[in-house]
Amino acid sequence: MKLAVIGTGYVGLVSGVCFSDLGHEVICVDKAAEKIERLKRGEVPIYEPGLKALIDKNTAEDRLQFTTDLAYAVKQADIIWLAVGTPSLPNGEADLSYIMEAAKEVALSISQDTILVVKSTVPVGTNEKLENLIRSHTGHTVAMASVPEFLREGSAIKDTMNPDRIVIGTRSPYAQMKLVELHEPLTSNIIVTDVRSAEMIKYASNAFLATKISFINEIANICEKVGADVTMVAEGMGQDRRIGSSFLKAGIGYGGSCFPKDTQALIQIAGHVDYDFKLLKSVVDVNHDQRYNVIRKLEAILGDLHGKSIAIWGLSFKPETDDVRDTPAYEIIVSLLERGAMVRAYDPVAADNFRRSFSALDVQYCPTAAEAAVQADALCILTEWDEFQRITLNDIQSWLKSPNLIDGRNIFSEEQVTGTEFAYYSVGRPNMNKGVKEQIPLLSL
Ligand code: UDX
Repeated sequence: MKLAVIGTGYVGLVSGVCFSDLGHEVICVDKAAEKIERLKRGEVPIYEPGLKALIDKNTAEDRLQFTTDLAYAVKQADIIWLAVGTPSLPNGEADLSYIMEAAKEVALSISQDTILVVKSTVPVGTNEKLENLIRSHTGHTVAMASVPEFLREGSAIKDTMNPDRIVIGTRSPYAQMKLVELHEPLTSNIIVTDVRSAEMIKYASNAFLATKISFINEIANICEKVGADVTMVAEGMGQDRRIGSSFLKAGIGYGGSCFPKDTQALIQIAGHVDYDFKLLKSVVDVNHDQRYNVIRKLEAILGDLHGKSIAIWGLSFKPETDDVRDTPAYEIIVSLLERGAMVRAYDPVAADNFRRSFSALDVQYCPTAAEAAVQADALCILTEWDEFQRITLNDIQSWLKSPNLIDGRNIFSEEQVTGTEFAYYSVGRPNMNKGVKEQIPLLSL
């Protein structure tokens, strides 16, 4: 099939590249000329394992093109994908201006009947708005469908090629048939729904996963008070198939481009129909507070942080990505600087992005993990990169001024910590706490 993908962000680029790898002819479009030029040269604008190899292969085999010319891309496309950003407005609602503009341009450019798939995350009812907009700008028939995206950064290609399920929301039998045909090589688990339900499935899924994370983080906070171990609790809970073991890793809270944005948007969507989504509001609040436990724990070990040198390992919102959108590291570093601490930071791939995105922060960026830790009063591990898990506590101790460690992602085991001189604090594992001067006042910020 001939596919046009509009928007070369995470979702658009990965989907386009994967479809080309399945043998379809794909043209990826973006307004950002510099990005398209880079993609044409084989440079990938995001860090995503395996993506460059697939781009190189499929461009060399002439199935994958990049252009800024939307009209050229959509003219003969059997299916057009809208995968442009829907960032948060200041009130938490999704900003639909980019997708509306792109849909209008599509309507003005098509020269045949076609299928338009909305891949961007949009509030319930948006597909209908887009359909009305398109109808008013073209005489051709455009069959609309909502096919939400569930890929995770860092495993985007694997998730796209082996999805748990594909959701197709459409009223058009023709669009349904073509989209089932397109996705059948990926999975037999294809769920066909009405359009509004498909739009809702995306928000509900992300909100539910965010809820699981905030839930286990609160259980971790209680474990710290009652002397239980959250990793064992999560394992015991997760073995119940009704609960499931994934997304029960306690830490410093979720970040990234989806969970923070989509939880806020769903709260807004509910608000518009006079529904107060209390549970989800608490999920968001808990997630915010969880970040500050790192500061509380540092203060429990070091007392006043003024003038202290604090090493930070991990700036992206999770491992295997250079994405720093809504990363917990940002708020933690801001708090440290506000308290007069000096921050030395290291990340295997996200440091440049972090520096560019938060240029006002007075942070010393270091080229290696060791250099960030040298002569620091304490180390905080904020992202569970493999690289950090391979470093021994002996090495870390030899670099630090004093052996103080806040392990925000529980990467070290009891075995590794026992017998060391570290003052050590992790998340929800109070039996491993060592060298802490005072009890932590929980959730009192
Ligand atoms: C998420 C969804 O998983 C994906 O389906 C959707 O399409 C986009 O949003 P992503 O943001 O890439 O994907 O990352 P994910 O692996 O889901 O992690 C999100 C955040 O939750 C990270 O900050 C991660 O550290 C945190 N997390 C995840 C936890 O704190 N504990 C867990 O058990 C799982």
